This record gives sequence, structure tokens and C-alpha cells, in this order.
Amino acid sequence: PRLWMGLLSCSALSQAQAAWDVNMRPGVTEVSRSVFDLHMTIFWICVVIGLLVFGAMFWSMFAHRRSRHPQPAHFHENTRVEVLWTVIPLLILIAMAVPATRTLLHIYDPSEPDLDIQVTGYQWKWHYKYLGEDVEFFSNLSTPREAIGDQAPKNDHYLLEVDEPLVIPAGAKVRFLVTAADVIHSWWVPELAVKKDAIPGFINEAWTRVGEPGLYRGQCTELCGKDHGFMPVVVEVKAPADYSAWLAARKASAAERTALAGKTWTREELVAQGEQVYRTACAACHQLGGQGVPPAFPALTGSKIATGPKEGHIAIVVNGKPGTAMAAFGKQLSDVDLAAVISYERNALGNAVGDSVTPQD
Ligand code: CUA
Repeated sequence: PRLWMGLLSCSALSQAQAAWDVNMRPGVTEVSRSVFDLHMTIFWICVVIGLLVFGAMFWSMFAHRRSRHPQPAHFHENTRVEVLWTVIPLLILIAMAVPATRTLLHIYDPSEPDLDIQVTGYQWKWHYKYLGEDVEFFSNLSTPREAIGDQAPKNDHYLLEVDEPLVIPAGAKVRFLVTAADVIHSWWVPELAVKKDAIPGFINEAWTRVGEPGLYRGQCTELCGKDHGFMPVVVEVKAPADYSAWLAARKASAAERTALAGKTWTREELVAQGEQVYRTACAACHQLGGQGVPPAFPALTGSKIATGPKEGHIAIVVNGKPGTAMAAFGKQLSDVDLAAVISYERNALGNAVGDSVTPQD
């Protein structure tokens, strides 16, 4: 690897940029480093084989370039050559298979984790559930998709942020149980060398152990619909004490939300809360102003849904609409958020129906 880097730094590129652009990244975990080492080992074996094969070929072309009417050699067998070209590749394959098998066994051993996190892909966000900890949340784009426009795909340096990153403790073995709620996604964090398909109805296992606190980024890496390029993965690794404090705060706010569900909400409070929910859950399809993208995503301004009987409105938001892109938000949102977003749709977006929906509805 050092020679390779040396060759690259001779070019005009800075070494850091060269490493980023042309090679795999060594990452920050034991697994990611062993994957990187394996990659480099096999790379150099291939370089040597390539030099020998192409060297022999170009040498014979060069050495015989002036031959007139050459006579090819005629022979049937040569035991020594045949043994050599069987044994040498066999040894090379064994030399590659031993470290490859060791690395694979390591990657595929999620046993005895310190922490289990269920990772669920949704169109277009991730959901994280800390098993046994009563902590779960969605990790949404922190800027509405509309506000980003087409910047991200056109500009490599545009960073997609999330409202809540996945938080894990440094030094702990964290097992991920990866699945999906709608279509196939894939959860990928290059620095951790974790990349697992998220498939509805299946649970795929992966694991990591990150030594040092830090912020690591990835993205969905399975084409999953129009906003596939807009479901980033952000993992924040905290020191164990900071992680415990974060977890305690998270649990406290979950308890607070439970209390909120029991409180009496005014229409104004619900509508204000609903606007936040609308931005993260609905605006991607129905647009910020509720005008939708008919016919695929119906308008919510002056529509029969948002101005008709509220029972029908609740049913659509909670259960979704089979056969369309409308998801069942009853599984994704709390009762308060469901009531808030339905109230928002009925009282804002140019609709002035005037009735709100309470968490008890
Ligand atoms: Cu989710 Cu691509």
C-alpha cells in the first residue's frame, strides 16, 4: 500500500484526495481494516501475475518482431510445465483463500453483541429501534426534500444531514438487525465496512465495533424509488459515558411523549405540531404547500380527503391506501403526531374546515 500511495502522491493530487478517490478506504474498525488488507493483498498478487503474464507476452512479441516464416514448436506434453502451472496457481489460490476465509468468518460472526439495534428502511428514511431499551426513532432528512432540489446529485460536496443520527457507544459490539417496511433498501456505512440489504419480511444481521468516538456517514445503496439518493445514514459514535447520558435523555423524552398523548390539546397546538410532522412525513409526496403531484400524489388543498368526513381522513392516514404509494402511518407515527398532522391538513394548506382531530380519536 505504501508504494501505491507513493506512486499516487507523485501526481498532482494531494495524497489525502488520492486515497479517497482511487482506493478503498481502510475504515475505522477491525473488520474494515482486515477487509482493506485483504483487498490490498489480492491487489498485489494480481499485479505480480499481470506483470509476469503481460511481460512474457510483450517480451516474445518484441524478441520475435523480425522473425520471417517462424516455425511453431511441436510437442504433445511436458510433465514438468504441466505440474508447475497446476501447482503454482493452486498455491496462489490457497494464499488468497486463507486470509479471505478468516475475514469472512469474522464478518459473519454477530454473536454475543453488547447492543442490538433494529434498522428498518422506509421510503425514504431510516428507523432505528434499540431492542430492550424502549428507544426508537426515525432518522429523517433534516431539510425538506423540496428545499434541497437537485443540488445533492450534482454536487459531490453537498452533505445530506439527518434530524437524528443513529447513536452507538464506542468499544461495544453492536449488532444490526436490518429489514425494510416497503421496498428493498440497503444500509451502508463505508467507514464501518457494513453494507446490508434491507428486505421486507427478512432480517439480515450485521455488526460493528468502533473504537473511537466520531461521526460516520453512508447512504441507502439499493435503488428504492424517486428519493433513493436522499436517505442518508449518519452514525454518531459516542464515548460510553456520553452514550449512557444520551440514552437516558432519550428515554426521558419518550416518557414525556407518552404524557403528551394524555394531555388535552387545543386545535392551535395540534396544528402547529402537525406542521412539523407534515414536513417530515408527507411533504416528500404531497409537497410543502399540499398541492401534491397529481395523479400519483393527490392534492390535499380543497380535496375530498382533507375537507371530507374526518373518519375517512383518519383511516387513510393510519392504514394507508393499498395499491398506491400512500403508506400506513399508523405504524410510524405516535397518536399525537397522527392527530396533529390530520388536524394540520384540515386547518392549514388553504383548507379552512375548522375541525381538528385529538389523539383520542
Ligand atoms: Cu432506500 Cu435507496
